[in-house]
Amino acid sequence: MSDNHKNQQDGVALLREMRERSHAGGGEARIERQHKAGKLSARERLELLLDPGSFREIDAFVVQRARDFGMDRPENQYVGDSVITGWGTINGRLVYVYSQDFTVMGGSLSEVHAEKIVKIMEMAMKVGAPIIGLNDSGGARIQEGVVSLGGYADIFLRNTLASGVIPQISAIIGPCAGGAVYSPALTDFIFMVKNTSYMFVTGPDVVKAVTQEDVSFEDLGGASVHSTTSGVCHVATNSEADCFFLIRELMTYLPQNNMEDPPISKSKDDPLRTEERLNTLIPDNPNKPYDIKEVIRLIVDDGRLFEIHEHYAANVVVGFARLGGHTVGVIANQPMVLAGVLDIDASEKAARFIRFCDCFNIPLVTFEDVPGFMPGTRQEHGGIIRSGAKLLYAYCEATVPKITVITRKAYGGAYCVMNSKHIRGDLNLAWPTAEIAVMGPEGAVNIIFRHELAEAADPVARKAELVAMYREKFANPYVAASRGYIDDVIMPSETRPRLINALEMLQNKRDSNPPKKHGNIPL
Ligand code: HXC
Repeated sequence: MSDNHKNQQDGVALLREMRERSHAGGGEARIERQHKAGKLSARERLELLLDPGSFREIDAFVVQRARDFGMDRPENQYVGDSVITGWGTINGRLVYVYSQDFTVMGGSLSEVHAEKIVKIMEMAMKVGAPIIGLNDSGGARIQEGVVSLGGYADIFLRNTLASGVIPQISAIIGPCAGGAVYSPALTDFIFMVKNTSYMFVTGPDVVKAVTQEDVSFEDLGGASVHSTTSGVCHVATNSEADCFFLIRELMTYLPQNNMEDPPISKSKDDPLRTEERLNTLIPDNPNKPYDIKEVIRLIVDDGRLFEIHEHYAANVVVGFARLGGHTVGVIANQPMVLAGVLDIDASEKAARFIRFCDCFNIPLVTFEDVPGFMPGTRQEHGGIIRSGAKLLYAYCEATVPKITVITRKAYGGAYCVMNSKHIRGDLNLAWPTAEIAVMGPEGAVNIIFRHELAEAADPVARKAELVAMYREKFANPYVAASRGYIDDVIMPSETRPRLINALEMLQNKRDSNPPKKHGNIPL
């Protein structure tokens, strides 16, 4: 064998060995422990998330540089360190990914770990493709001190600069403590896996030491808490496999970046399909609830709504759907929960969703049945004024096509807020059951006929008469339609074809806001 061949063979053997070391992560025993905890390894996760064989890794040979606390010992020199980075495809479309490896020092964030993530974030920004982070990390690498903190800050800056430019998705699939929660919090959507993933700024031990409170991992920051109470988590899943399946589905609704339109996905669902059931779905009694999700499913392509924040502030429903193959962002008051009233959480949930859609050229379709803002000291003292203003601001500033369908109540300030004509609604439709008024008939009669009712011989009968009179005068769509605040009153059964037609009509809509550095949304 010539020297040349020998050198080449040695080189190939070394590359094989280096790759093996990199693929070994924290070693067999720790991978076994990961599996026993019901979690997949960082590489197994990438295989499930991406199209088969599409993953291309970079920085597989990076090694940490810390020397203190025994970090210079050979056993602490993990090839690739505690994160795997690169790109691949989802349904043939490019995405950048990182997957933190809990088997290497608990997936903690070292200087080089941060550098690897920053590198692919910058590539994703340059190329204009989404980034998906699979997070499983004990936070800042304790042995590295401020260098690790600086690494986090470098990532936070990129997250913020990328916001509104490329979609950023986070999966939380293990414990995520300290700094490990703030990068996901800056991204567009957070997925969590029930029972194996946690997010908290400080863990149960620190909580106990500082506040004497005894709390479990799950109760402090599990998927249930974050998907129902805090709203930090947008989608909670039963398993890692479900999590990756749903992220893949979410990506089908989104464009690659803010300069593109979302992909078109034609279905067999007839764009001209009418739906007779919608003509009788609204109960005669205006105080009786109905399920707005049933309405949405009867209208959108194939009845599929990809819900965001399904179990948080369920009095408003938000999610992605398609109409005639085009992605739309649906925002709908839910009469089944708190009569569809707008409270602090619902306002913030809807506002954030609207802003995401506006960033990424996704038209907004609003279904409105709202009795108003939630009254009471809890809401007032909690800042409903500020939160309601967020929703108002989000609708006002959005320049994507904006369509509203009033199905029943549009009362008070909520009429203005839910994409009324006055705040640049492009097409405002109402069903014949729509009631558009300053407030509900009962409340209105109590105020404007207070004296008359006090003096009436039979106040109950007189009130019933006045309520009926008020309802006939104001609680219908025709006063608003006579002023052009409602563009048309439509048969409920025709809603699907009317919406698809409206989206086609608005396809080339152009609108903009005055030049400014950025607005000052009431945070
Ligand atoms: C270095 C770490 C680590 C860390 C875990 N490990 N966290 N190494 N830095 N932050 C190592 C452990 O030593 C262990 O090594 C391995 O990872 C697995 O950890 P375990 O504790 O055995 O696992 P588990 O019982 O599942 O508990 C996971 C955990 C816990 C909940 C994440 O490890 C934990 O509480 N870690 C510390 C969390 C934390 O306080 N981080 C700093 C936050 S401050 P071996 O060798 O045994 O496998 C922060 C500031 C940033 O992040 C602020 C920016 C805004």
